[in-house]
Amino acid sequence: MSTLQDHLTEVEGYIATTKEEVESFRLKYLSKKGILADLFAEMKNIAPDQRKEYGQQVNELKVKVEEKLTSFQSILEAAEDVAAGGPVDLTLPAAPMPIGSRHPITLIRNRIISIFTRIGFTVSDGPEIEDDWHNFTALNFPENHPARDMQDTFFIEMKSGSQSVALRTHTSSVQVRVMETTKPPIRSLMPGRVFRNEAISARAHCFFHQVEGLYIDEGVTFADMKQTLLYFSREMFGAETQIRLRPSYFPFTEPSAEMDVTCEICKGKGCNVCKYTGWLEIMGCGMVDPNVLRNCGIDPDKYSGFAFGMGIERIAMLKYGVKDLRLFSENDVRFLRQFAAE
Ligand code: PHE
Repeated sequence: MSTLQDHLTEVEGYIATTKEEVESFRLKYLSKKGILADLFAEMKNIAPDQRKEYGQQVNELKVKVEEKLTSFQSILEAAEDVAAGGPVDLTLPAAPMPIGSRHPITLIRNRIISIFTRIGFTVSDGPEIEDDWHNFTALNFPENHPARDMQDTFFIEMKSGSQSVALRTHTSSVQVRVMETTKPPIRSLMPGRVFRNEAISARAHCFFHQVEGLYIDEGVTFADMKQTLLYFSREMFGAETQIRLRPSYFPFTEPSAEMDVTCEICKGKGCNVCKYTGWLEIMGCGMVDPNVLRNCGIDPDKYSGFAFGMGIERIAMLKYGVKDLRLFSENDVRFLRQFAAE
């Protein structure tokens, strides 16, 4: 048989977390056939000289049981209150919630957009999964141009098999969509993610971000392009910035150029960022090829225009001194937190 002391120890260590457990605890000790009733009934069998002490001990156990029961019940009630949504202690200090920060690619994209929207450019959007027409054919890519090759483009296999569909390799596809649906004058930017089948390294990734731009109206010339891009470069890299245009080739522009800016870090003197040339290449550009205008339903005899395209990662790397492009897509908060102040 359990001694009184055993009962005391059991009561002290008892754990009840549900209503049912609390009730069975109550029944075990306090019901008419419970342990305490039995212990009180025992009283008559106790030798008269020990009865007083025995009675005191049983009473002590009863008090303990009642205390335990009260504490179980208040814990249960509190849990029910919280589950029901209140009452809550409003004076408790709140758990700290760290504020997020914008991604560096978003910061640079927004800066580019804000510089061009100040001179009347709008922002256009288009799909990341494109057909051959918008990504290549309308842009005057010859049938066998290497950029269509499996090397550079992620083609998507379609069930129907007939249509050629791919992940866009540049946002020039959006330029085509804008030209097809808008009557000039057109002044618009095409920011977005693009995809190329390249080996991933510190300088290249299979996806990256671009902002392209398109300006079409009557009488737009190469000089307009040069001045627009000079304005952009000075807003982006500082008022002292110089630009230089080098002849280049794109199927959709003629003439085409690569644009360099003077290195912001060494101010053109030469450093390891600009590989001691004093210049940094930041975008491709050119006058929209008349074939492209015609493909998109714009009369090349009446209208002319220029287009340009730049990689956001490249500009972000230059502006923030980031040496590895992969950091932009790894989502390491230690990297991302450094841009919280902007
Ligand atoms: N589409 C080109 C690229 O992705 C960039 C570009 C756009 C060049 C417009 C000239 C004119 O590399």
